[in-house]
Amino acid sequence: MTQSTKTILRALNGETLPTPPVWMMRQAGRYLPEYKATRAQAGDFLSLCYNPDLAAEVTLQPIRRYGFDAAILFADILLVPQALGADLWFVTGEGPRLSTITSADDLGKLGPADDIHETLAPIYQTVRNLSAALPKETTLIGFAGAPWTVATYMIAGRGTPDQGPAHALMRENQPVFDALMDRITDATILYLAEQIKAGAEVVKLFDSWAGSLGADAFDRYCTAPHIKIVTALKTQFPEVKIIGFPRGADQKYIDYVDQVAVDCVAVDTAVSSNWAAENLQPKMCVQGNLDQSLLVTGGEKLIAETKRVVSAFKNGPHIFNLGHGITPDASPDNVSQMIAAIRG
Ligand code: CP3
Repeated sequence: MTQSTKTILRALNGETLPTPPVWMMRQAGRYLPEYKATRAQAGDFLSLCYNPDLAAEVTLQPIRRYGFDAAILFADILLVPQALGADLWFVTGEGPRLSTITSADDLGKLGPADDIHETLAPIYQTVRNLSAALPKETTLIGFAGAPWTVATYMIAGRGTPDQGPAHALMRENQPVFDALMDRITDATILYLAEQIKAGAEVVKLFDSWAGSLGADAFDRYCTAPHIKIVTALKTQFPEVKIIGFPRGADQKYIDYVDQVAVDCVAVDTAVSSNWAAENLQPKMCVQGNLDQSLLVTGGEKLIAETKRVVSAFKNGPHIFNLGHGITPDASPDNVSQMIAAIRG
C-alpha cells in the first residue's frame, strides 16, 4: 500500500509523526462569525444540517481559516433518532428536545432501522460534496452518536446531567431499553456505511455519556455495541478507520481499547495525558486532549498546555484534539495560537 499523504490517516495507521495532525471537536461552530452568518442564512440549526450546500460550507470554513488536517461532517448525532421517527427540535439557548421513549408503545411508534435513509439522504449528499471539495491533504471524518448516548436523549427527550431517565428505563423495563439500543445500533451501522460509501475516510463514534455507566453496564451498553458497529463496518469496508470516544470512561478506557477494534481512542480532559500515553498509546493511536476551556482564556497557559499535550504523546501515534467540543465563547485567535504552538 502506498503511504498516504494525509497525516490523519498516517497517524491512524499507527505512524508516530514529528508533528501531530490536528482538528477540533465542534470546529465548525458558534465561536466562528462565518458559521453564525451561514446558520442565519439557513434559518436554524436543523435546516443547516439538512442543506448539503450550506452544511458543506460550514464544514469547510474552519479548514480555510486554520488548515486543520481533518474536516468533520457538519450534522448532529440526534438526526438518527429523527430518522427513526422521533420528533426533534432545538430550543435556542437550551439545546435539543425530542419526543420521549419510556414504554413499548413509544418504541412501537419508531420506524425500522432500514427506513432512515430517506430522511438522511441530504447528509450523504453533504459528504459527497465535501469529498469533492476538500484539499487533497485533508481527511474527511463522518460520525454518529454511540447507541447509549443517543438512547439517553431519546428516553429523556433532552440532555440530562446524570442520564437518570435512561438509567431508570434500563432498570425498570430492560426489554424495551434493550430493544431501543438494538434499533439504534442497527441504524448507526446503516448510517455510517452510507457515509463511508459517500466518501468518509474515517468515522467517529461519540459516546459522550459513557462515563455514567457502571462497570457491568459499560461492558454491555458501551463496549458491546461499539464492537458490533466496528465489526460490521470493518467487514464491509476493511480500509475504513474508526475513532471511538467513550467520554468519561476513566480507568475503563483500558478495557475499551483492549476489546474494541477501533484504530484510535479519543480521550477527554479528565484523563491525564501521561496516563493515556502510558496505558493506551502502546495499543493504538490516541486523540486528545487539550482542555477546551483554555481556548476561552488563552494566554501563556494555552501555549504551555498545548506543548505539554504534544510532548506527552510524542512517542506514539497521536492526533491532537480537545477533550470535548470547543465552546461558543472561545476566541478564534486562540485557536490560531494553539495551532502555531503545535506546528512550531
Ligand atoms: O464537531 C463538529 O464540528 C461536527 C458537528 C457536530 C455537531 N454536533 C454540531 C452541533 C458533532 C460531531 C456533534 C455531536 C453531538 N451532538 C454530540 C456528541 C459530542 C458532544 O458534544 O458530546 C452531542 C451530545 C450532540 C447533541 C447536541 N447537539 C446538543 C446537546 C446540542 C446543544 C448544545 C450546544 O452546543 O448548543 C447540539 C447542537 C449542536 N450540534 C450545535 C452544533 C454546531 C450548536 C447548534 C447551533 O448552531 O445553535
